[in-house]
Amino acid sequence: MKNIYSNIFSFNKKILVKCIADLKKGNLVGLPTETVYGLAGNAYSKNAIKKIYNLKKRPKKNPLIVHYLNLDQANKDVVFNTNFYKLYDKFCPGPITFVLKKKKKSKIHSSVTAYLDTVAIRFPKHFVARSILKKLNFPLAMPSANLSSGVSPVNAYDVHDEFKKKIKIIVNGGKSKIGIESTVVSLIDKPKILRPGIVGANTINKILKISFNKKKDSKIRSPGMLKRHYSPGIPIILNQNKASKNCALITFGKRYKNKTNFFNLSKKSDLKEAAANLYKTFRKIKKRGFKKIYVVKIPNSGPGIAINDRLKRAAN
Ligand code: TXA
Ligand code: MG
Repeated sequence: MKNIYSNIFSFNKKILVKCIADLKKGNLVGLPTETVYGLAGNAYSKNAIKKIYNLKKRPKKNPLIVHYLNLDQANKDVVFNTNFYKLYDKFCPGPITFVLKKKKKSKIHSSVTAYLDTVAIRFPKHFVARSILKKLNFPLAMPSANLSSGVSPVNAYDVHDEFKKKIKIIVNGGKSKIGIESTVVSLIDKPKILRPGIVGANTINKILKISFNKKKDSKIRSPGMLKRHYSPGIPIILNQNKASKNCALITFGKRYKNKTNFFNLSKKSDLKEAAANLYKTFRKIKKRGFKKIYVVKIPNSGPGIAINDRLKRAAN
């Protein structure tokens, strides 16, 4: 059978070598991470970064996250502080991104950070991303591998859906376990959550022994963070408990029956599982040709906060 996905590869030594060579040339590769799949390019190369913005059709004012293997690598580019060390020790490598001051001598191209003097950095846990970072002498700028304002990909085929053959290599590293993007926390001055994720504000509060001012923080956004985002391209209506004809209902919990237009995020009411299923469900519903998505109320605690953040933006 002809392989229609000629740019999707399983991870092995040969593909590792190819990825390294391509990244060194300033090309982009699609890589798995534990949160979502990323579109990776050399963070020190103006050319590679230009390709990322162009391919994603991303607004230039929306800065990218820079990915590192370890502290030694990141130390070249950003200024660490006490809060950073505390959170790094607890969660890294893992699904959390830190906004820190950029060092004057950093080689990160200014287009990566949308010409800000801060950098968002992350230490991914996925072994494919780590194996590649180990072999590079530059960090990887890596936004989610989807067209700007769309749904993040959670497997290699989703990445192919977004960019078709426009990327030469997409590494298949299985399904992204977490399934939503990393928590983004600014550690410049007083810590602030810029994007909720699976690492919750309460957990961060406990470690830093601070408390986020909810009202105030809700106004703070990442630069370039679009109000409409994570959108599957069909209307989404929140807090519903039924769906009209030709429409899908995203459900949660065991009280919802199996119906052909019902899509349960977690029958056992597990919010972590629901987060992992969210984007996959958006794509499935879109592919089946439904015209609209209704969503039941999702509890707004723990991972539910991140789910509701994505739902609200998708519905905007
Ligand atoms: O889980 C993730 O973080 C994934 C995987 C691939 O690592 N990446 C990801 O990247 O979600 P992206 O580009 O889709 O989202 C980056 C977010 C944006 O909301 C952006 O505004 C914010 O990080 N950001 C980047 N640099 C920033 C900075 N210097 N200050 C504040 N926010 C920043
Ligand atoms: Mg994104």
